Amino acid sequence: MPTKTDLSLILLSWYDRDHRDLPWRVSPPMAARGDRADPYHVWLSEVMLQQTTVPAVKSYFARFIERWPTVLALAEAPSDEVMAAWAGLGYYARARNLKKCAEAVVRDHGGRFPDTEDGLRALPGIGDYTAAAVAAIAFNRQAAVMDGNVERVVSRLYAISTPLPAAKALIRQKVAELTPADRPGDFAQGMMDLGATICTPKRPACALCPLRELCQALVADDPERFPVKAAKKERPLRQGAAFVAVNADGEILLRRRVDSGLLGGMTEVPTTGWTARCDGETGAAAAPFVADWEPCGSITHVFTHFELRLSIWRAQVRSGAAGGDDGWWEAVTNLERQALPTVMKKAIAQAIPRAFNKTKDHQ
Ligand code: ADE
Repeated sequence: MPTKTDLSLILLSWYDRDHRDLPWRVSPPMAARGDRADPYHVWLSEVMLQQTTVPAVKSYFARFIERWPTVLALAEAPSDEVMAAWAGLGYYARARNLKKCAEAVVRDHGGRFPDTEDGLRALPGIGDYTAAAVAAIAFNRQAAVMDGNVERVVSRLYAISTPLPAAKALIRQKVAELTPADRPGDFAQGMMDLGATICTPKRPACALCPLRELCQALVADDPERFPVKAAKKERPLRQGAAFVAVNADGEILLRRRVDSGLLGGMTEVPTTGWTARCDGETGAAAAPFVADWEPCGSITHVFTHFELRLSIWRAQVRSGAAGGDDGWWEAVTNLERQALPTVMKKAIAQAIPRAFNKTKDHQ
């Protein structure tokens, strides 16, 4: 019967052979020569990876690193520019915390990330997952790193029948037991790669899995049954309206959302006051000023806790029209440089179909 040590050794030798080459990683041969991943790169990639997939993160990561090569550069960057570079990744509180964290590392730690899980967790925006991932990957600490991929792999290995999220404590305990003192960061990344490439949610490639002989879900012949999930609550559908005003110079009216709350501090076209809990008006009467508003259909966008349907209105107005206290007119060709969240890009594209022609790869 293979032991826990066998399991980590099997996984590490699979990782040595089949790891993904990712821009923020140090490959296993380099790591064996003592190279460590840059903590700034690891932290930035881990925060981004909580938003979206590895392929999508690669381009955002490259842009951030080119523009702000060090944590000091990021700490000194104007917030609006960081928000604009983050636009499209979603969950914008993370981008605000990213800036705050960089500032804290510079102000309180001389520009060097703390090298322990506890030290990292004390920084703004760093929770259990990121603290463990950075401690293990950048500082070789024996930290139990648990993300969705790892949860799936472990719940299958042990055929854990308790539903998520109740099963998390047990899974964490198993991950802690399995994580080796030697190469804990590679072990964590190996588990994540295994979950992303072989132990996938649907149709896992068990025949290729290095851990197949240890997997209790495979013995039970039903790996897809795990992780067992508690029944999901339905997402409520919220409504509102967005108003795309275009002037004779081809500029559109934008404004900045208040700092707190959903999409706080991001750029938007004027909208009615929808929230996760309450609908906004959907008609032209709710527009920020009187104009010849024409309906342009609607868009929907799925947020974590609700789905939003926005009725889209468009009006042609004269140049020099007042934008209101907090608004400004922006050339359509300059929209890509604004901190426009995806829902707002959808709203603008619905009213002006060519607005983001060149930017599909940013979505
Ligand atoms: N997902 C989140 N972090 C990751 C990492 N470091 N490697 C692979 N997949 C990941």
